[in-house]
Amino acid sequence: MSPLFIVMLGPPGAGKGTQAKIVAQNLDLVHISTGDLFRENLKNETELGQLAQQYMDEGELVPDDVTIRMVEERLSRPDCEDGAVMDGFPRTAAQAKAFDDLLSKFDAQVDVVPYIKVPDDELVERLSGRWMSPSGRVYHEKNNPPVVKWIDDIDGSQLYQRDDDKPETIRHRIEVYNQETAPLIEYYRDKGVLVEIDGTQPIEAVTEDIMQAIKEA
Ligand code: AP5
Repeated sequence: MSPLFIVMLGPPGAGKGTQAKIVAQNLDLVHISTGDLFRENLKNETELGQLAQQYMDEGELVPDDVTIRMVEERLSRPDCEDGAVMDGFPRTAAQAKAFDDLLSKFDAQVDVVPYIKVPDDELVERLSGRWMSPSGRVYHEKNNPPVVKWIDDIDGSQLYQRDDDKPETIRHRIEVYNQETAPLIEYYRDKGVLVEIDGTQPIEAVTEDIMQAIKEA
């Protein structure tokens, strides 16, 4: 069977991470989030983490060459043989081109791109109320609360808010998305792999639409 590569596309806070986790689990594929990889490096105080931090704190993108190299290394691991659910990558034209080139070496391609659409005001509301667990699980104080406030349902760890979820940084991240990442909507539409998903629905309904899109791809 040929590998399956899914790219979750959408603005910050659209629900890419939430959905990528569920879809990867449903399909038994790895979930690759470049944001999570950078945050892991930051926590482990690696050189890559230190470099990424200045960009992430400002809501800017980490340079393409650094990001592409990190993804290339991650995709070379055996757990990606059946494909992957990409979350937060690619997000520039250069990254999309590099990703296509990389996949073609494995006789693979981007198979489906669920584009999760959510209006800007809701994005700000979602991100300012987002609570994260150290293991990457995502909650929301109102929309998707843990059973016990600030405590992860699964492993009981303390939840936290991301440093880049401050209102002014959120607004800048949305601007960067509109400038750098939104052009990928047309890039993937032209390739015939883009499927628009209404991201304002409840989480389960969004998952259903994405799973349907993957089935039809
Ligand atoms: P990254 O971690 O990728 O952040 P992002 O793209 O800004 O996306 P988010 O994680 O903020 O949102 P999401 O769409 O995953 O939403 P979520 O599911 O959490 O990147 C962070 C930084 O790293 C970047 O700014 C950049 O500096 C760097 N970086 C990363 N990748 C890079 C790359 N490729 N190139 C260069 N730099 C890169 O949901 C949000 C909230 O909404 C949650 O609270 C959730 O519970 C809630 N929610 C989700 N779905 C629903 C729903 N249907 N209804 C109601 N609430 C919902």
